[in-house]
Order: sequence, then structure tokens, then C-alpha cells
Amino acid sequence: MEFLVKSGNPEKQRSACIVVGVFEPRRLSQAGEQLDEISEGYLSTLLRRGDIEGKVGQVLFLHHVPNVLSERVLLVGCGKERELTETQYKQIIAKTIATLNDTGSLESICFLSELHIKGRDTYWAVRQAVEAAKDSLYNFDQFKTNKDNTRRPLRKLTFNVPSRKELARAELALQHGLAVSSGAKACKDLANMPPNICTPLYLAEQAQALDERFDKISTEIVDTEQMTELKMDSYLAVAKGSDHPAYMSLMHYNGGREDQKPIILVGKGLTFDSGGISLKPGAGMDEMKYDMGGAASVFGAMKALAKLDLPINVIGILAGAENMPASNAYRPGDILTTMSGQTVEVLNTDAEGRLVLCDVLTYVERFEPECVVDIATLTGACIMALGHNISGLMTPHKGLAHELLNASNQSGDKAWQLPMDEEFQKQLDSPFADMANIGGRPAGTITAACFLSRFTKNYNWAHLDVAGTAWKSGANKGATGRPVSLLTQFLINRSENETTEANS
Ligand code: BES
Ligand code: MN
Ligand code: ZN
Repeated sequence: MEFLVKSGNPEKQRSACIVVGVFEPRRLSQAGEQLDEISEGYLSTLLRRGDIEGKVGQVLFLHHVPNVLSERVLLVGCGKERELTETQYKQIIAKTIATLNDTGSLESICFLSELHIKGRDTYWAVRQAVEAAKDSLYNFDQFKTNKDNTRRPLRKLTFNVPSRKELARAELALQHGLAVSSGAKACKDLANMPPNICTPLYLAEQAQALDERFDKISTEIVDTEQMTELKMDSYLAVAKGSDHPAYMSLMHYNGGREDQKPIILVGKGLTFDSGGISLKPGAGMDEMKYDMGGAASVFGAMKALAKLDLPINVIGILAGAENMPASNAYRPGDILTTMSGQTVEVLNTDAEGRLVLCDVLTYVERFEPECVVDIATLTGACIMALGHNISGLMTPHKGLAHELLNASNQSGDKAWQLPMDEEFQKQLDSPFADMANIGGRPAGTITAACFLSRFTKNYNWAHLDVAGTAWKSGANKGATGRPVSLLTQFLINRSENETTEANS
């Protein structure tokens, strides 16, 4: 589907469908009023008769409205004007797209992007509309024999903005929204892929494919043999019980100066997490195919970055492995020597993500990173703490916390910072090794981050726990594409600072 932005009068639009808002109780939006005027009160009469109240989620589809040049008018409920929330705005856009798709309008002009949301501007409204529209159109039907194709899907959607002087910002919002959406789609496609197909090798092949597609990306694959030479024994221990060998895939994006230090994104890529010898319970275990959601989001963010052609250097890493029980699998009681030299007593083979990540976090020192952000479906405890809509952020670095929370707020891809006070560290004490791989039940998300912090002393580092946000369970089971939007926003902001610094 094609998206456009423009700034025009509703009464002058000649389109298959024109979309305008109705507020509660039965009040037309400004664009609606303009249409009402030329139609000599046709719309306001319908409202007075009670055909649509204006509640969020309501729609009323009209044909041949007098004097209106567009073939159809779609009235969309927007709730109380002053109380319109960000979540409702996204809902309203999704509902509009679904309605347009089902009703055979091939193209449409939408005035909902003019709605006002407290503290937000036109850039935000357009970008969120594009992201919400793309998200609502997504489905994963690669493995369905009969795909339910819409007969006459929406082909072209134009978002209108209030004034011509906002067009440049709206164009930028459109460009950003499209890049983020294409990254989020790549993330979802990869994460939804079944674990018999999406193996660590498959992740490596996808990373390779980005290299072929984008000039500025060059991919490097580190295989088991190289990892053995590098002494990444903690990472390798996790993969030992699986017939699918581990691969660590590095996508180098070179958009900045040669001497510019890279930003590094590390994604946990457990293509299946059975728990290993500390086997997980059977119910819902299929969802552990999503334990590579962090890696999928890094993959998506790299794609968005390449599409935006940002002037920075970034390395995206997919830390691929599969955690399986087997006679040669690692076991509780094992003591592993990590690449850093620190030793770890394994008390639970299901706390495998940190064992993979710790060696990657040591490995990346060689790149002298500007900063490192890891993204991981690391702890079930994070779902208990923050639920399914907010990712956990942990970092000892104030500046990085500020930047990531800012990016989260700007993109609407929510995150919340949890503390990492040093008192938590002692939960990781082990009688036999430098540390244990679990810290007990209290504050499980934080102790997992504390474990990782022991491997990140030589650079600025932040950790995003996306266990609750990377996918949805239930009837609409599927990857969410998060936190691609947050990560891309973080990179956009970094590149803007870079440009201002270069110019000053
Ligand atoms: N991948 C899981 C975390 C997870 C669980 C994410 C459920 C989303 C939903 C991780 O590898 C894991 O198993 N963590 C354990 C850690 C525990 C053994 C300390 C957990 O959270 O139970
Ligand atoms: Mn696990
Ligand atoms: Zn896991």
C-alpha cells in the first residue's frame, strides 16, 4: 500500500473515500463541518438522528453525500475531543484501515491525522498513523494453504495535515514511519517463523541477505569453530544439547565517518528455549520460538536504519543458539568459564540467555563501542513486573537511560527503567564459582541485568528486557515487532546529534 501526505480542503477532495472524525456527543470534527456545510447539513442531520454517537470504534459509511466530490464518506468515532489518548488514536486508525479494506475503496484521503492529541504534533500523528496502519494490515500466512486475500484492498492512503507549512515535517514523519514499519515487519516475519525452520543458521542467512540487499551493510558470521577459538564457552555450553549449531551473526552498517565509534545492538537469538535439562513445563512451550525476539528486533532495526540511510556506524548482532535437553547438554552444577575469564556456576539451564549474551558482550569490546544496547526476552519476571505493554530498561549509565527513555516516549514504544543498585549483586553469589547464573525469585529481572553488568565494565551499556512485549499470546498470537520503533528512534536521534556536531 502506498502512503502520501498533503494539505488540502476536504470539500475539494475527489477520492474513492474521504475519512473524517466525529466526537462524542455527536459533534463533527473541523473537516466534517466543512463537508457538512457543502452538503447543506446532510451530516449534521444524521448525527442529530443518532446514527453515530462518536464513541471510539464506531464507524458510519455513507455513499453519495450531496455535493461531496468523493464517492464515499467514512465517519469515524473519536470519543471526547479533549480526552483523546494516544492509544485511542492508534485504535481509531486501525479501525479505519480495517473498514476501508473491507469496503472496496481502493484509495482514500484521511483527515484523522489532523486530530489533536495532548503534547503531540503533526509529525507524531502522521508517523503513528503510518505505523498503526501497517501494523493492522500485517498477517503471517506463509504456511496457510488458503490465504484469505481481501478482494479489493486499499491501495493508496493520503493523510491530510492542517497547514502547508507542516508538509515538510509530515513528509519526514511518513519516511520515518515507513522505515520503522518495514523494520517491524521484518522483525515480525522472522520472529513468527517456526523453530524447525528458524534455526541459528537461518538467522545467519537472513543477516547475509541484508548484506546483499544494502551496500552499507556487510555481514560477518562467527561459527562454532571460531567461537571455540575465541573461548566463548558459556555461549557454546547453551547450544551443546542441540543438533542445530550456534551462529553469531554480525551486521556492520557503515554510514558514518570511518573513525566514528559504532553503536552496538545485541539481540538474544534463542531460536527455541526448551529450558534444557531444567526443562520448561509443556503448556505454551511453543511460544519459546519467540525467544529470538531480541535478535529479530535487531534485524528489523538494522533494516530500518539502512532504509533511512543514517550517517552513523552501527553493528547489529544476532546471538543465535538453541537450548535443548540431550545427553551431551550442559547441566545444573556445571561450572563454565566465560570468554571474560569469569566463572559461572549453572544452577538452572533455563537461565540460558544471560550465558549466551555475556560472551557476546565480552566479544564486542574489540569494536571499542560508543555504546552497547542488548535486547532480550530474558526473564518471565519482567512480565510479572511490567506486563505485556512495557519493556524493562536497566542500565548503570544515566545518559543512556535518558536517551532510551526519550526514544521510547517519542516512538510510543513503551519502556520503564528498573533499578540496578549494587545490593542486588550479592544474590548472584556462588560457593564454587565467581557467580551463579540465577539470583533466586526476588527481583529476577534485575538480577539477570546484574549478571550481564559484570561483562560490560569497559563501555556504556543498557539492557532491554522484552519478555513481555516481543509477542502476544492468545487468539491473536504473534510477534509485535517491538522494540524496533524504540531502537530506530534511538538511532535517528543519535544521527541527528551527529549531524549537528559535525556542522558546529
Ligand atoms: N526465555 C526465558 C524468559 C521468558 C519466559 C520470556 C517466559 C518470556 C516468557 C528465559 O530464558 C528463562 O527461561 N528465564 C527464566 C530464568 C529463571 C530460571 C531464573 C525465567 O524467567 O523463568
Ligand atoms: Mn530459558
Ligand atoms: Zn530464554
